[in-house]
Order: sequence, then structure tokens, then C-alpha cells
Amino acid sequence: MYAQTKGENMQELQKQLEEILESCRSYTNMGRVADYIPELASANRDDIGICVSIPSESEYGGIWHAGDWEKQFTIQSICKPILLLQAIIDNGTDYVKEHVGMEATGKPFNAIDYSEHLLLREHINPMVNIGAIAVCGMIKADSDQERFEKILSMLKRITGDPDLAVDERVFNSERETGNKNRALAYLLKSSGMLSGDAESLLEVYFAMCSIKVSCRDLAAVALLLAMHGKDAEGRQVIPEDAARMLNAVLTTSGMYDGSGEFAATVGVPAKSGVGGGIMAVVPGRMGIGIYSPGLDKKGNSVAGVKMLERLSREMNLSIF
Ligand code: DON
Repeated sequence: MYAQTKGENMQELQKQLEEILESCRSYTNMGRVADYIPELASANRDDIGICVSIPSESEYGGIWHAGDWEKQFTIQSICKPILLLQAIIDNGTDYVKEHVGMEATGKPFNAIDYSEHLLLREHINPMVNIGAIAVCGMIKADSDQERFEKILSMLKRITGDPDLAVDERVFNSERETGNKNRALAYLLKSSGMLSGDAESLLEVYFAMCSIKVSCRDLAAVALLLAMHGKDAEGRQVIPEDAARMLNAVLTTSGMYDGSGEFAATVGVPAKSGVGGGIMAVVPGRMGIGIYSPGLDKKGNSVAGVKMLERLSREMNLSIF
């Protein structure tokens, strides 16, 4: 266990984190590991980890963690805010808002029930699959390979982890079984919301979902969003308006059709993935990375949400 101590308060915070994790451990049994992508089924449902990153100037500044915080898992849907961020950096917030909607869908992440009158840009939310695939297409590059490398490089820079890489087994499993995503991409293409080659763009989306990360990586991204795009030295690393827009979309849609409940019980912008990760942003205060692969019916980590509920109550994290 490692912590940058600044006195007794910090040791208390470390203890609190360990207690929260232990008290939520039993919830790992209540979730189901995702198996609609066969390779994800090999995750260990008993795993549970948390990492909290707090700006160094704060009384509790440092990186705090417990459990399997270093274990790697695939980022899955937590790549959606990263894709959106790159699309905003490349095109600006106005362009992105003209091409995807900001409204919550109340639908599952892989919903495909878009009747003709709903296949409009304003109904395409970037935190569900259809919107994330559309956002992929907005990232500027000369090829889809370059597009992927551009996003991966940004993620490496933000996390400070130069070794981030794709889990090839998960990637192959995603593309072999990703027919619903294929259908969504062609639906977008048929409505003029996707240009270029749909199959090749899907490879970018599948590869992005298959990047291996740890709780520490998620906490680092979340901290940057929490500080509205400024890094530890106060440098504006990503545009402030992009960070604010992302935090807003994460609040309304980051936990899919569980976003309203999550806003009521935890109350912070967050994004989950079917790999078992959750990235939670506490504006102005901290970034949190969570891992526990047992999921509820909506695709959110059961023990992960429980840890966040307790952390939020005990540290008064809700923004509402
Ligand atoms: O599009 C998919 O099916 C996945 N690769 C990502 C979905 C996901 O993580 C949804 N999250 N809860």
C-alpha cells in the first residue's frame, strides 16, 4: 500500500478507502461478468480495486488506493468520453454539438431501436454505442490507423502511462461478435451521419474499447476532468470548455439507463464500462478509478457503484 503522507489525516483517508473497499467486497458476488464478448468472461469476479487521485496542493494531495488497483482490464465504454474529447479538440464544441446530441437516452448502451424519426443527430448520444461510433468518425486523421494512434497517444499523455496497449484477444473477440455495432454504424451511414468506410471505422472503435487500463489510469483521466483540463502544474492540457462539456454529458448519460439513479445516490459525473471499470470525476476535488467486473443488468459494476455510494456519503462528494 502506498500513499504520499502529509500527516495523520492522510493516514485516515487511506484507512477509510481500505474500509470502504472491504465493506463492499461482498457485492462482487452479486454482479455478473460480461460474456456477450466471449473474452470478457474470463475476468475474475472477485477482483475489486479503487484509486483516488487528489491534487497535490490539497490537504489530502496524492494517489490513494486499495485492493486490485493496479490490475489491468479493458477500458470498454470508458473510451467514449476519450473519443468525445478528441473530437472536440479536433473540431470544437459547437461542431460536435451540431453532430451529436447531448440529451440522455434512457436506453441501454447498445440500443438499436432508432426508428426513422429518431435517426437525427440530436438523438444520437455520444455515451452510447451509436453516438460513440459517430464521434469516432469526427476525429481528424488521414487514415483510421492514424485515427486510432492519435486517440491512444492522447490517452497515454493524460494517464502518463506510455505502455498503454490493446488487449488483442479482447479486440478479436469484439470484432468477431460486434454485429450489433456494425448494424449501428450502417444505420448511421444510411442517415448521412457517418462518412468513410464503416468497417474500418469500427476497427477503431473496437480497438479503443480493448485498451488495457488500471484504476490508476482512470483516476488520472478523471482528475484532469475534475480540474477542468489543468494538470498538476496548472497547465491547461485540454480545453476547459471540453472538460466542462464532458462532465455534463457524463452526469446525464455516463452510467447509461442507470444515470439518473447514480446521480441521485452518488451525484458525480462518471462513466462505466463492461470490463468492470468506472471513472468518476469530482469537480475541483478528485479523480476516482474503480474496478470490479461483476455487472448489474445495465452494465455497471455492482461493487463499484456501492464503493462510490459510500465514498460519496462519507466525503460529501455529490455536486447536487
Ligand atoms: O460496444 C461494445 O459492445 C463494448 N465494446 C463497449 C460497451 C460497454 O462497455 C458498455 N458499458 N457498460
